Amino acid sequence: MDWATQPDPFRRFKGATVHHLAGGCTVGPDYGDIREVGRMESEPLDVSFIDRLFYWSLALSAWKSIPGATWSLRVNPSSGNLHPTEGYLLCGPEAGLADTPALYHYSPHEHGLEERARLSDETWRGLVGSVGGPSLLLGLTSIHWRESWKYGERAYRYCQHDAGHAIGAVRYAAACLGWRAELITSVSDVELAQLLGIADQAGIEAEHPDCLLLLHSGDHQPDLDRFSVNDPELTLVGTRNALSSDHHDWPVIDAVAAACKKTAAWVGDRKQSPPLPTLSPKPNMTPAAELIRGRRSAVAMDGKTTIDRAAFYRILDACLPGARRIPHDVLPWRPRIHFAVFVHRVEGMPAGIYVLQRSATPMLREVIGEEAAWKKPEGCPDHLPLFLLGEADARRIAKSTSCNQDIAADGCFAIAMLGEFRDSLANDGPWFYRALHWEAGLVGQTIYLEAEAEGVRSTGIGCFFDDMTHQVVGCDEDDRFQVLYHFTVGGAVDDTRLQTLSAYHHRG
Ligand SMILES: Cc1cc2nc3c(=O)[nH]c(=O)nc-3n(C[C@H](O)[C@H](O)[C@H](O)COP(=O)(O)O)c2cc1C
Repeated sequence: MDWATQPDPFRRFKGATVHHLAGGCTVGPDYGDIREVGRMESEPLDVSFIDRLFYWSLALSAWKSIPGATWSLRVNPSSGNLHPTEGYLLCGPEAGLADTPALYHYSPHEHGLEERARLSDETWRGLVGSVGGPSLLLGLTSIHWRESWKYGERAYRYCQHDAGHAIGAVRYAAACLGWRAELITSVSDVELAQLLGIADQAGIEAEHPDCLLLLHSGDHQPDLDRFSVNDPELTLVGTRNALSSDHHDWPVIDAVAAACKKTAAWVGDRKQSPPLPTLSPKPNMTPAAELIRGRRSAVAMDGKTTIDRAAFYRILDACLPGARRIPHDVLPWRPRIHFAVFVHRVEGMPAGIYVLQRSATPMLREVIGEEAAWKKPEGCPDHLPLFLLGEADARRIAKSTSCNQDIAADGCFAIAMLGEFRDSLANDGPWFYRALHWEAGLVGQTIYLEAEAEGVRSTGIGCFFDDMTHQVVGCDEDDRFQVLYHFTVGGAVDDTRLQTLSAYHHRG
């Protein structure tokens, strides 16, 4: 890692017209009303809608400074705060934006849209004509170099985690506006790069296509498998900025990116999530936008805060995917991420290692084996598939499996996310390596917001020792399950040396 070549966290397209969005709005529904489909009226699509959509998903959330250093934070979290994820919007003619359909790059620094290309009405109709109501397309890309600059080989998976968090952030923001969001899996990476105007980017600073989301008002259920891109001809405006003065090559990143390319449409196990009970409301519900924009990672946990059992169950319940549960409804596959939970400080729960099965798979029990207790904990809601494997003081284990980071031991509980690895890659193709990390990031976004709603904090932990985690949980026999992400939830210690400035103070 060379500080002198630290990549610019802001991609800009010089020469593109910038449409500044207003920002500043935190008025909207309570957090309790955006976690399930159907509780909100859908808002009309206009420039204020687009403003709020980005302000509540990918915008800056604050600036932090200490003497000699200033950096920004965003609504979506990112490994090392390096922010490899870029966002693109495709929409029809909008008063306040272009008067034709257009492709825009979202610039979080400005909270503005850089107009990259105008589309013909025919092209736009070809994309969303079958949706049958107001709609937008939102694409995500990753600049791997932003993460590989610091993390080398681990960078690829961090970019995928971050994309998953961004998908979750967009889904929650759409929910605040009463809209649906759905991941489109019928486009290949080549088609997506073309659509987002990044196909000509090459070299280490290039953006790589991640995914495309269809946002719609929910009045009609679009046929997502019929969605196609049809090679749009784009006349692009704007030249991308250079991010670093020099680079360090990580050939393995290019190798894994090539191996995980999505080369064709995916039509896999369209999920049939079970209906789940309505999520239980919490006291002190905060306006969703405030909670979303106030989300922060704990840098340290205090080692003493506890939560009660009901709060613990509420957080895990919100992580369960159900047909109408937000943000999980955005992903079109049967959930493949399950949790091993290390309980440290939950009142009324024995400390120990637990498992939360997020979707029906007999394989998890088969792999972990019947030697574990598989005991349903006391007071656990019937629909919550949580099982105690064994009582233990798991603080040391949580810390050592999380690259010896104290935050994993000093919170109320920590999580190791176990992905259904072998079968997913064999049946759905290598690109599903990315999809599994998106799912992990997406459910991570839920943990962040649920922790905030319960008055505690959380932190995604991308640095972990996988073999050690597999041994501890008892899934080390083969690669049917692989740990893909760790998390911690607890009482945060604030760093009082930091000064906080508002997100867009620089815009005056
Ligand atoms: C994928 C991912 C991995 C992360 N890994 C770690 C980690 O291993 N240790 C840690 O202290 N923080 C970790 N974080 C937290 C980030 O450092 C944090 O999101 C970033 O500094 C931005 O701060 P914010 O989340 O408060 O906006 C991770 C975050 C993400 C999204």
